[in-house]
Amino acid sequence: MLYHSIGHYPEKESDLIQELTAFSKTWAAFDDGQWGEVLTKRQRFIDLWAELIRAPKGSLTTAENVTAAMMSLIGALPPAMLNGKKVLVAEDGFPSIHFLLSGLAERYGFTLQTVPLRQGGAHWVEEDDMIAEWDEDVALALLTWISSTTSHRNDLTRLVAHGRAMGSLIGVDITQGAGLLPYDVTAPQVDFVISTSLKWLCGTPGAGILYVADALMPLCEPDLRGWFSQANPFSWALDAFAFAPDARRFDNGTPSTLSAIASLPALEWRMQQDDASFVAHNLALSTRLLEGGLEAMGLTLATPPASLSAVAAVSWSHCPRARLRQRLSINSARRGFIWIVGATRCGCHPARSRQRRASCAPWPRWTRCSSKCAPFCVVPSPRPVAEKFSRQWADFA
Ligand SMILES: Cc1ncc(COP(=O)(O)O)c(C=O)c1O
Repeated sequence: MLYHSIGHYPEKESDLIQELTAFSKTWAAFDDGQWGEVLTKRQRFIDLWAELIRAPKGSLTTAENVTAAMMSLIGALPPAMLNGKKVLVAEDGFPSIHFLLSGLAERYGFTLQTVPLRQGGAHWVEEDDMIAEWDEDVALALLTWISSTTSHRNDLTRLVAHGRAMGSLIGVDITQGAGLLPYDVTAPQVDFVISTSLKWLCGTPGAGILYVADALMPLCEPDLRGWFSQANPFSWALDAFAFAPDARRFDNGTPSTLSAIASLPALEWRMQQDDASFVAHNLALSTRLLEGGLEAMGLTLATPPASLSAVAAVSWSHCPRARLRQRLSINSARRGFIWIVGATRCGCHPARSRQRRASCAPWPRWTRCSSKCAPFCVVPSPRPVAEKFSRQWADFA
């Protein structure tokens, strides 16, 4: 992973060129082969995702991104399910979902309950705190499997067991672990899962997914619907619209296929890997990073040791040493974390960038860094420590 956002694998560039060239040829051909090929490849993307997270056939479809997948789901629930009830999230969930839900609360008549980080406690929202605020008024809870700020991995078994006892719908955002750690939608059984493909799965932006469990599916009538929500998109009689029985009901107009197709080679590559050695490799890299001397430099690890196999920003085994050094960036960021990431580019707002550039100076190869990069350490005094760490890291690399 370059940093928390963009996963790489050895042949990524050439695979992408090949796949997108094939797409261009198909799409530009003067024949009628376009849709057959393009929709078949999109289906292959769906099938590979389903295989990855053990989702039954027909339970998963594409979405533009995680936020859009969440919106699809919320907009599909029977109004009475949320009205007058609570939707529970944690403060360390992905902000975009929070923005979405806080905007929807009034329209859908629910109260958004955000479980805060404990003052002076862990850098992630503790399961005990989630459970303490999770009562029978919670209609829906969205859990984040792995935090995008600390890599903390939630104990889903425990949280889902509690949520079941409260009678809540339970969804999981698996974005920060999908493709790296094994995930099974049935263990524990959850009602929906949202994710995207560009992180550990090494795909492209725009290739999100939504999984909906069999039991919930028939209750869902997405607000965002269209001809592709039907079992037969060519059923055009205006009074005969009918939702497909499966996850296709979450489709709407002509599906955006290109991002799924562009992500296909990465998914194919991932599915050929051995799960156990994949995790072991990542853990070994994380361990090497820790052995690189964080403690000696007065740095405290923010990522809980039990989650180390999900630590991002260390998968640089395919990256030549010189390029790795060029890419290394250290950036002080929100909540007192310093993030140590291998980044070449990112996109935070120019004004914030200037602020951060000032706070990171004189780090010579500082690159602008979005607030969602992998936080790794908490530092008492960012600038000198960052400089020291950068030297040590370069030696280590
Ligand atoms: C936990 C988590 N969820 C979601 C996202 C991305 O959401 P979206 O695809 O809506 O941009 C990220 C990206 O960093 C993330 O870390």
